[in-house]
Amino acid sequence: MKKILFVSSEAHPLIKTGGLADVSGSLPKALAELSQDIHLIIPNYQTLNCQEEKRYLCSLRVNNCDVNILETRLPHTNVMVWLVDYAPFFDFAGNPYNDAKGNAWPNNAERFALFCRVAVEVAMDRANLNWKADVVHCNDWQAGLVPALLSLEEHRPATVFTIHNMAYQGLFPSNQFYSLNISRQLWNPNGLEFHHMLSLIKGGLVYSDRITTVSPTYALEIQTPDFGYGLEGLLRHRQDVLSGIMNGIDTDQWNPQTDPAIPQHYDAHHLEQKQANKIALQQRLSLPVNAKIPVFGLISRLVEQKGIDLILDCLPDMMGIPLQFVLLGSGNPSFEHRLQNFAHLYPDKMSVTLGYNEDLAHLIEAGSDIFLMPSRFEPCGLNQLYSQRYGTIPLVRQTGGLADSVEDALPESIAKGTATGISFHQASAGALLEAIKRAIVLFDHKDTWRYIQQNGMNKDFTWHNSAQQYLQLYNEI
Ligand code: ADP
Ligand code: GLC
Repeated sequence: MKKILFVSSEAHPLIKTGGLADVSGSLPKALAELSQDIHLIIPNYQTLNCQEEKRYLCSLRVNNCDVNILETRLPHTNVMVWLVDYAPFFDFAGNPYNDAKGNAWPNNAERFALFCRVAVEVAMDRANLNWKADVVHCNDWQAGLVPALLSLEEHRPATVFTIHNMAYQGLFPSNQFYSLNISRQLWNPNGLEFHHMLSLIKGGLVYSDRITTVSPTYALEIQTPDFGYGLEGLLRHRQDVLSGIMNGIDTDQWNPQTDPAIPQHYDAHHLEQKQANKIALQQRLSLPVNAKIPVFGLISRLVEQKGIDLILDCLPDMMGIPLQFVLLGSGNPSFEHRLQNFAHLYPDKMSVTLGYNEDLAHLIEAGSDIFLMPSRFEPCGLNQLYSQRYGTIPLVRQTGGLADSVEDALPESIAKGTATGISFHQASAGALLEAIKRAIVLFDHKDTWRYIQQNGMNKDFTWHNSAQQYLQLYNEI
């Protein structure tokens, strides 16, 4: 049994802004089920959705800050969560990283540096918890300082750093380095310095024993200039310790047979029952109720990564085709505005819900026929996995984890029984539109459609395999 400290800035259902939370809420649970002694550590944000009361465990003084460590349980699991409680940094409402306009909080470097320092104290058993980690598993730039700081320690635990998205690097002006009071040893171009800026993701990329990312294809892509954002050279240099492990999904939460957020449960053998969810979705969003028309769904952060601009460019053509399009998301105000304008122009064809809404997300997965993910890049992506589980055919751009998890419906893959979706290559509105038209043609071939739905529903997206791969990695180091 290994003692694993899992360091993340969000974990579902405690707090979530994106897929990192889904992973941090479900991988530790899967590792606990493999009999590992795993603890999750996250900041004690004001808006945590705890089910069990928080218990005070201890206090420690770190870099002149008096910090408490509290404990709660990750809801519906056996995983205990240590909460880093420092009110001046974490006790306020709202998003963990940005203000309502999407601007980063001005003290993010200080906030997450303190979080990392506390994680190091816990991992080294200097926090009076009587627990020393064998492995510290850090996620994204918010946890990047942990491997860097641990590299300065004797008898330190092994470290793994998982990249969920290379586009977010935790870059700050160089003078921040000095105000954070970090050892000078770490400040050099082979350390935390990146073109005279402080790069917190480099703490993970340079100093961890192993680097992983969330799909095999993305592990290759980030070693190229198009996806590496200037860090491709470093990643190529460390390719011997870099690997891609595909994310799993929490099949308790995403299960069309038991999902409490959908009106009609169904499985691969009773796909006709899925229709009731489509009708409920159309009713809820005030679209014409029509079981025959293909419904396209999209749930996403509305940012460039997700190909929202491609969707916007396609919309005039899409509105000329018999289909309905339902979108749930939030993000870039200009995308939000333009999408909403379209929905006002075509109230019978398109519905846009801005904001974050978990129940509606489940209903869209169950009620749509096709799920759109035209991402420009996608480290893993989770909605194409949820979609397959719900018999909703994903239409994706072939990149990152989308390429690894969706097999295009071509005559050969249909014949082999491996087709699970529709995919296209080029990041252009034309290519997306062609794929949408292919989907509509296929939708009319009811037997083939059902067959593809069933292929996806029968795939194993549980964490079991991937958690085993992480465990093997922990054992190797
Ligand atoms: P990313 O982490 O890049 O945003 P992923 O596909 O890995 O992309 O995960 C996104 C997660 O966030 C999914 O669980 C998705 O359903 C959820 N999500 C995104 N936007 C919303 C929203 N507006 N309302 C509800 N859930 C959302
Ligand atoms: C990131 C990526 C997404 C991935 C998620 C969880 O947010 O953008 O592709 O699924 O992390 O690993």
